This record gives sequence, structure tokens and C-alpha cells, in this order.
Amino acid sequence: MNAPVGVFDSGVGGLSVLREIRQLLPAESLLYVADSGYVPYGDKPPEQIRERSRAIARFLIERGAKALVLACNTATAAAINDLRGEFDLPIIGMEPAVKPAALATRNGVVGVLATTGTLQSAKFAALLDRFARSVKVITQPCPGLVECVERGELSGPAVEALLQRYTAPLLAAGCDTLILGCTHYPFLRPALQRLLPPQVQIVDTGAAVARQLQVKLTENQLLSRQPPAATAFWSSGDPQQMYAVLPVLLGENAQVENLGI
Ligand code: SIN
Repeated sequence: MNAPVGVFDSGVGGLSVLREIRQLLPAESLLYVADSGYVPYGDKPPEQIRERSRAIARFLIERGAKALVLACNTATAAAINDLRGEFDLPIIGMEPAVKPAALATRNGVVGVLATTGTLQSAKFAALLDRFARSVKVITQPCPGLVECVERGELSGPAVEALLQRYTAPLLAAGCDTLILGCTHYPFLRPALQRLLPPQVQIVDTGAAVARQLQVKLTENQLLSRQPPAATAFWSSGDPQQMYAVLPVLLGENAQVENLGI
């Protein structure tokens, strides 16, 4: 019960999900892996993402994880089915918030910012088929945004130029609802809000994933009831780099270990 929940992402973007989990489930201890040595996942072949996801899942399970959260849309699209087949514990993944956006849009035009890997996946096609038949969906891959967040660069001319370039076609098409389909992007929400007309609403799935984790832990009688909870961090990239961006993204300092795989 008081075992930790393992959370992982291609890098630091999954911290946007981790902060939602902490808010909803403050008694849960967390293990967070940033696969920053391999970031971005968005343009990597699905087989490589599956291999990395399997290795990280094993690492977290060996450290006692009672459930896993794939806090990465690209890894979920490429690997969640394999992981669920291989490992016997609750595994929760991300998906772009197409259903809530289709319900929320007032003019029937929805934009999606995500990685190429997510937008080209069969999972995303199935999601559109299931929930977006009655709305027009415009998709936009966003190379470069993940790297900005990895550097802790959440505002400034370079970020704003990328956001402007990626949102322009969506705004030109009239979208009034914008899906953040990558866990790095919620960290860019303030910069986006400064750029977008006020009638455009932004949706992401971090809070919904935290609620789904709560449901799965409850169903499996795995909810922890004993705070204080702790979080441990690993990076497959430069741990010092992650150490430096944690205060920017999470507002805290914490030790970051070398993942070693
Ligand atoms: C990436 O590493 O390219 C982004 C991860 C995500 O899709 O959330």
C-alpha cells in the first residue's frame, strides 16, 4: 500500500503530471524517471521508444513501484499496450484530450499541439474516430518545444516565436479550443495564454490522469494512507541539468540520480 508510484517521461515534461498527482494524492510517494538522454521521443522510431519504456518500467518495478504512470503521450502511443501485456500492475497512460475538447468547443473547430509520433500513431487515429466525428480537428506537430522545456526556457523570444508559428495555422482555421497533447506543453501555458485570443480555451489531461490513477489505486486497494510522501528523481541525461530545472518547473530543489540505463 505505501509502496511508491513510478512515473516516467522522455524528459521533464511528465513533471506537469507529477504535480497533479501530488495535489490529488499527497500521501503517495513517487519515483520519477526522466529519459533525458533520449529526449525528444517525438521523432524516434516506435520500436526504440518501446525498448526504452520497457527498460524504465523494469527499473521502477525493481524499486518497488506498485503502479506506473507513462507521463508521456508519445510513449503511451508507442508502448502502453506492450507494457500492459508484459507487467502485472496498474499502468496509466496519457492521451490528447480529444473527448473533453470535442465537448467544450463552441464553434466545432479544435486544434491539437503534439509530437509527430503522437499525431501519426494508430492510438491517436482511433481517438479521433471515436470522439471527434462531429468536430473539425486541426493537428500541428511542434518540433523544438520539448527542447525549450527541457532547458527550463518557458518564455522569451525563441519560445514565443515557436508558439506563434505553431498556433498560427490553428487560429487561421478558427479553432476555439486547443489541446496540449504533450506533457511538456502545460509548462508553456502562461506563454500560450499571452499569445492566444481570450476566447481560445486550452485543455490538457494531467489532472484527468491523476484522477485515473486514484481510481486504479482504489480499485486495487493500493492507495497509500500514510503521509509524509517522498519523491525520488532519476535522469538518463545529465542529472545536473535536471537538478537545475526542477526549481523552474516544480519550484523545488531535489537530488537527481543518474539512471544508469
Ligand atoms: C517528446 O519527448 O517528444 C515528447 C513527449 C510527449 O509526447 O509527451
